Amino acid sequence: MLEAEVILKHAGQLVTVPPRARGARDDELGVIEDGALAIAEGRVLWAGPTAALARHVKVTPRTEIYHLHGRVVTPGLVDPHTHLVFAGTREHEFALRAAGRPYLEILAAGGGILSTVRATRAASDDELLRLALARLSRCLSFGVTTLEAKSGYGLSLEHELRILRTIDRAAQIHPVRLVPTLLAAHAVPPEFKGRQAAYVRHVVDEILPAVATERLAEYCDVFLDQGVFTLEQARRILERAARLGLRPRLHAGQFSDLGGAQLAARLHAASADHLEHVSAAGLRAMAKAGVTAVLLPGAALSLGMKPPDARPFLRAGVPVALATDLNPGTSMTENLLLMMTIGVTQQKLTPAQALRAVTDHAAAALGRSGRVGTLAIGAEADVAVFDVADWRQLAWHFGVPHAEMVLIEGEVVWSRDPIRRISGRRGRRRRRR
Ligand code: NIG
Ligand code: FE
Repeated sequence: MLEAEVILKHAGQLVTVPPRARGARDDELGVIEDGALAIAEGRVLWAGPTAALARHVKVTPRTEIYHLHGRVVTPGLVDPHTHLVFAGTREHEFALRAAGRPYLEILAAGGGILSTVRATRAASDDELLRLALARLSRCLSFGVTTLEAKSGYGLSLEHELRILRTIDRAAQIHPVRLVPTLLAAHAVPPEFKGRQAAYVRHVVDEILPAVATERLAEYCDVFLDQGVFTLEQARRILERAARLGLRPRLHAGQFSDLGGAQLAARLHAASADHLEHVSAAGLRAMAKAGVTAVLLPGAALSLGMKPPDARPFLRAGVPVALATDLNPGTSMTENLLLMMTIGVTQQKLTPAQALRAVTDHAAAALGRSGRVGTLAIGAEADVAVFDVADWRQLAWHFGVPHAEMVLIEGEVVWSRDPIRRISGRRGRRRRRR
């Protein structure tokens, strides 16, 4: 019989989210009533009804057992698009935009992203780290256990490296799993004003090789849009990145469709993100190449735009993920559960598709389907315990940090009002991630 190190039992609903990559439909969640989850060596050992637990799993005096009293258990959530590391605030722009000033006009006038670049360059390493850690802890309170984190507020070799090293330090200190992305092509920095082509060469010839040598990023992203970077520049940067071992992903179609979906498909990008503007041909290309769409309803909400309808994506066969886009300009939120609410009410995802969008499909957008964002046997034991009676309440009761307890690799890393362990001892060693 299987020997468990940790057991969670009497979950009102245990939502396992079988991975789509292993054939599950996108609205199939694998809900087990009065469920139990057994964990060993940081991975899911067994999941099933609490009544069947004793027949399948061996309990030893060391087994940590938690009685969940009907709370809901899901895989730890995955936020596949954030701009985690930045200093400074932008509430003044929020008001300007509400009064009608366009986002790209503020950027062209040297504000927007560039104002955050100034604040970030001026901040010390320790201050950047402190801000990132505080944000990560807020993410955890919404049940997030894996998070993609982009650079992009440095825009020079020195400062992009500094931000990626901050992400690396945060990953060593904070339990949330971090996936680092280089976004040096987020805007043209002031030193290269009017010399965009020269900045692209700097990214391709200096920044990318340095990041690859230090192994500081797994992905490379580009902000492809009108007045930012062109399709040809995005292609050059992402192709060089791929040759250096950084997988492509792309900000595309936030304000205008420049063909980013097709480019993402051609480069076999892990995801194309935003896609407020995308053609039917773009969606067909993404579906064929297996590129996940990461929709960012927080950005639309904060910019007073309409978030894109998810139904054309689903009809075309494009997997849809949701992310916060956590950033000071267009989406100042850590609340991934709120993205589910907007996904359901404004983007017409079913509640089940919305939950998959922040678990399995979000994991797919990070090349991790089957490993995180699911409680399938053998997956990482990253688990969110929510203080709700039905998983659909996560989107229905909105704006609230519902998580009560969070485990990463089978270890309780966060708990609101500690749920007391009713037996077992501490002292298991964690594997190195
Ligand atoms: O994803 N669109 C580009 N980048 C961010 C916004 C960055 C900022 O305004 O600081 C986004 O929305
Ligand atoms: Fe973004």
